[in-house]
Amino acid sequence: MGEVDPAFIQATEHRPKLNTIQIEGIPLIDLSVSDTRDLKQLVSEIGNACKKWGFFQVINHGVPLELCTRIKEAAKTFFDRPIEEKRKVKRDEVNAMGYHDSEHTKNVRDWKEVFDFLLEDPTFVPASPEPEDKEIRTLTNQWPENPPEFREVCQEYAREVEKLGYKLLELISLSLGLPANRLSGYFKDHTGMLRLNYYPPCPCPDLALGVGRHKDASALTVLSQDDVGGLQVKRKTDGEWIPVKPIPNAFIINVGDTVQVWSNELYESVEHRVVVNSEKERFSVPCFFFPCHSVMVKPLEELVNEQNPAKYKEYSFGKFFVARNRSDYKKLEVENIQIHNFKISN
Ligand code: OGA
Ligand code: NI
Repeated sequence: MGEVDPAFIQATEHRPKLNTIQIEGIPLIDLSVSDTRDLKQLVSEIGNACKKWGFFQVINHGVPLELCTRIKEAAKTFFDRPIEEKRKVKRDEVNAMGYHDSEHTKNVRDWKEVFDFLLEDPTFVPASPEPEDKEIRTLTNQWPENPPEFREVCQEYAREVEKLGYKLLELISLSLGLPANRLSGYFKDHTGMLRLNYYPPCPCPDLALGVGRHKDASALTVLSQDDVGGLQVKRKTDGEWIPVKPIPNAFIINVGDTVQVWSNELYESVEHRVVVNSEKERFSVPCFFFPCHSVMVKPLEELVNEQNPAKYKEYSFGKFFVARNRSDYKKLEVENIQIHNFKISN
């Protein structure tokens, strides 16, 4: 990624301001419960953060620090390998998992390389977005030979982050006034995946983005980042792009589109993006919690009533997911499918 291909250049209104001042950031939540801070307080902090920001950071999350360091080291070793070697595990339209270096967000190229793997291998998804097509496709992981410990570190990390994700889904259910396990059933045979993001230094950080503005389709995203920084969140109150300060040993959590629909917009999936810089490379590791492909997503019945009717029509998670992912591979002429396509207009 030496010279700047015009495919990376963002439209003027989406270019980042590079000297953003440090202002009030997203909330930092301690997940530990003690005599002085009970579960009720924790749940209320989570609910407030989901409402106000859609994003928060957590500490005392239970994931061993050593694993977060090891997965970023493994990522660095892998992304440092020659391109021919990385392309041996390249993902394509048949096998969606593996290495990829030309992802598009909103039809502009992202300044990054990624490696994706499934939490559950194999994972089942619809073969196509067409509603009448009942065919199911099996997705499997592919692993590079180098570094030798890569697969084991990735899988160990995934197991720990998965536990954290389920704990957070329980806290989110409670914060919506629902039983802790209200959402668990949707995650049996889930389609969740983990991504290693590598953002190389960029000669034109004022023109390109590491990841263009987007919302995550997930229910929940749990991200570990290094100390470089670059993630920005669109503040709900004024639309300003707010940098997320790297906090050692913290995870960044955001609610995605699926929770926005389940909660009937009590919690919104917030836009975010990644700015790159000219000197430092950056690594981040998001884990996307997606429900099972056969789940029909709609506002939870307990949260809708006559005064507060459902804001979304029911849709198949799997069909939505498959339709959305089509634009990852190539520039489309039209905007990709988004949850607002299912919005009920009143
Ligand atoms: C993503 C994402 C943020 C980051 O991969 O969806 O938003 O900090 N990444 O890398
Ligand atoms: Ni994202």
